Amino acid sequence: MKTLECKVCGHIEFEEVNGPCLVCRAENAFVENAEAINSPADPAALTDAEKKHIPQIVIVKECGLIPDECCTDVHVRVGEIKHLMTKEHFIRYIDYYLNRKFISRVWLSPEVCNPACALHLADPKGTITAIENCNLHGNWMAEAKI
Ligand SMILES: [Fe+2]
Repeated sequence: MKTLECKVCGHIEFEEVNGPCLVCRAENAFVENAEAINSPADPAALTDAEKKHIPQIVIVKECGLIPDECCTDVHVRVGEIKHLMTKEHFIRYIDYYLNRKFISRVWLSPEVCNPACALHLADPKGTITAIENCNLHGNWMAEAKI
């Protein structure tokens, strides 16, 4: 997996970029960075710090918010142990991808928001990716099949 990072805003794209950054609109701003997303040292034995940062994806089929149409509610929570949301240490945003293509960013404010959000997708098929950004500990990722 090739990881590309916008050097202006830190937005992550996978494999290739066509056009400006979809978050900050900067042109020609992506550089390959294999270290852009943190990964646990041992996925079978997560530390508490890793459990506080790795996103948890919960897919709720047919949530009912959009009547008579498919509406798949994709919840993301950070993390298995709830992350802090203080002014000093908080989750800045959660980015969503469908089949590794960026679809949306949700910004979170410290002290007001929980480290969690939801997106209502029309009829997604494939893999959902969530990348959360902690102001102190960088990017962490999780994926789930729909
Ligand atoms: Fe953190």
